[in-house]
Amino acid sequence: MTTLETIRVGLGARSYDVVVGSAGLARAGELIAPLLKRARVAIVTDETVAGLHLKTLGAALDGAGIAHEAIVLPPGEQTKSFVHLEKVCRTLLAARLERGDLVIALGGGVIGDLVGLAAGLVRRGMGFVQIPTTLLAQVDSSVGGKTAINAPEGKNLIGLFHQPRLVIADIDVLATLPERELKAGYAEVVKYGLIGDAGFFDWLDGAGARLLRGDTAALTRAVATSVRAKAGVVERDETETGERALLNLGHTFGHALEAATGFSNRLLHGEGVAIGMKLAFDLSAALGACDGQVPGRVATHFARIGLPWRLADIPGARPPTDELLHHMAQDKKVEAGRLTFILAHGIGDAFIAKDVDAEAVRRVLDTAE
Ligand code: NAD
Ligand code: GLY
Repeated sequence: MTTLETIRVGLGARSYDVVVGSAGLARAGELIAPLLKRARVAIVTDETVAGLHLKTLGAALDGAGIAHEAIVLPPGEQTKSFVHLEKVCRTLLAARLERGDLVIALGGGVIGDLVGLAAGLVRRGMGFVQIPTTLLAQVDSSVGGKTAINAPEGKNLIGLFHQPRLVIADIDVLATLPERELKAGYAEVVKYGLIGDAGFFDWLDGAGARLLRGDTAALTRAVATSVRAKAGVVERDETETGERALLNLGHTFGHALEAATGFSNRLLHGEGVAIGMKLAFDLSAALGACDGQVPGRVATHFARIGLPWRLADIPGARPPTDELLHHMAQDKKVEAGRLTFILAHGIGDAFIAKDVDAEAVRRVLDTAE
């Protein structure tokens, strides 16, 4: 039996383990059993993941004598909606799940965000377990307790902080993930190197291509390193009053690009983040915060990996600068109308910059490739 690496997220009474490695799904029963008051759980997943991985999870729970029933939702960002939140909450109530029972989120960030919110609301707060099945969810959304659905007014605007009781990041489930989704998740892996770990970025520069071909050892190291980095940030700043904002490197530009492309298949979240991180380094260089060569290093890495990094890489018409600036003005980090960006002094040395001059942002967008 392969060994699973355990990373503790230390948050006092809300502390939990993230287990990373091969065959974690098949061991979910034994990992979850010690957390249960009675041998009964609900699983929430999407249709795609259900077809690929629900049977393995069911067998693992059967093996541990845990009764289970599944709620299967449509895949896609539209599922993070009031309609599906209501469906999950009411199904949990109809199934007579109690406050002490656990709900399992089996899927990507969409399922994890929705289920975390539902669990936080039902009976004023049930526990939940994250079993993330995308690279993005394993390295980012499943850890840290941010939960949300989208509102017509914007993405992730209805949510709460609700930490999971356990996260099981099984590297093997990534084998069924489409290549484009794997690459999009990889952008969030690179983010940890760019924010605070130049050595990790250097390692990814060499190992990234191997990792994206599905090399288990490289994926395990990348997920574990990313989770350790995120756990540290969350322990120091759980509710994002300061340092946690660093995890948004590239996201102000990225969200504006996602909004300008209608949150469509034209640009996945991680692809927007990759282009956004390159733009954040362009802005850092333009403001004199980092050496002018650094954005080129970031671009070279993304180009070698096959991730988009230019505005020109977005299929269709180039998003107009005015529209992007308009979307940035809606960003959650806007305070008293002033833009906050995550900038960097170099690779592995990000910082929070408040009160960034909108004209400098405009020039960067106008002149970006
Ligand atoms: P997703 O959940 O939509 O998954 C992407 C696609 O991959 C879906 O079609 C899904 O069915 C499919 N899929 C999932 N696992 C698979 C597997 N193993 N094999 C084959 N197909 C699989 O998207 P995502 O990229 O995982 O997550 C994006 C969401 O995460 C966004 O809503 C974003 O806002 C949120 N997010 C949240 C946080 C947070 O801290 N809570 C952080 C980052 C992103
Ligand atoms: N994904 C950013 C955060 O968890 O804070």
